[in-house]
Amino acid sequence: MAGEADYDMLMHLTGEFAGRFLVISLIATPVAMIFPKGKVGKWLVRNRRFFGVGAFAYTLLHTIFYLIEIPLEKVVNEFFEIGILTGWIAFFVFIPLAMTSTDAAVRRMGVSWKKLQRWVYLAAIMAFLHWALVNVQDPHWKPALVHFSPVIIFSIYRIWKHYQQKQ
Ligand code: HEM
Repeated sequence: MAGEADYDMLMHLTGEFAGRFLVISLIATPVAMIFPKGKVGKWLVRNRRFFGVGAFAYTLLHTIFYLIEIPLEKVVNEFFEIGILTGWIAFFVFIPLAMTSTDAAVRRMGVSWKKLQRWVYLAAIMAFLHWALVNVQDPHWKPALVHFSPVIIFSIYRIWKHYQQKQ
């Protein structure tokens, strides 16, 4: 068993990296749309899948550390707490997305691959809420918002653009 401080540090690090990779994978398309001639957007889009898989890999590590450290009885008892349940939902949504991240899956699934990938937004909302509320007595809205603000801002921009084009 890891010491309390080691466990906290491992959870914090793996959680933050999972969140950061997720955010990078989500801002790739809007950055490329807003700066169509920019190299950064093109690079992000080309590597988007790697960032997504990276987010899943860190989430998996994060979950494994949790399951090693926390007794099964506690895992079961706190499953439905808002700060934990949101983490589990993000994790379970990530699994099919990561499993279909290969070129072969993209080819085989065609249009339904794109539809499946949209579930990443649910995973992102759940990951955000989990980050903010995992310690519900002392919510961490600030770091969660700082990390997810690019996704929030770009999402608002994309919705606004969508309605502009409709009019
Ligand atoms: C996309 C999925 C996930 C992301 C991005 C994520 C992110 C994070 C982050 C950033 C923290 C640190 C919060 C802070 O110290 O301010 C954290 C803590 C934590 N996460 Fe996750 N997490 C995810 C999934 C999960 C899952 C599936 C579990 C297992 C149920 C879990 C359990 C925990 C626990 C127990 C802590 C608190 C650790 C402590 O005692 O300090 N997380 N998570």
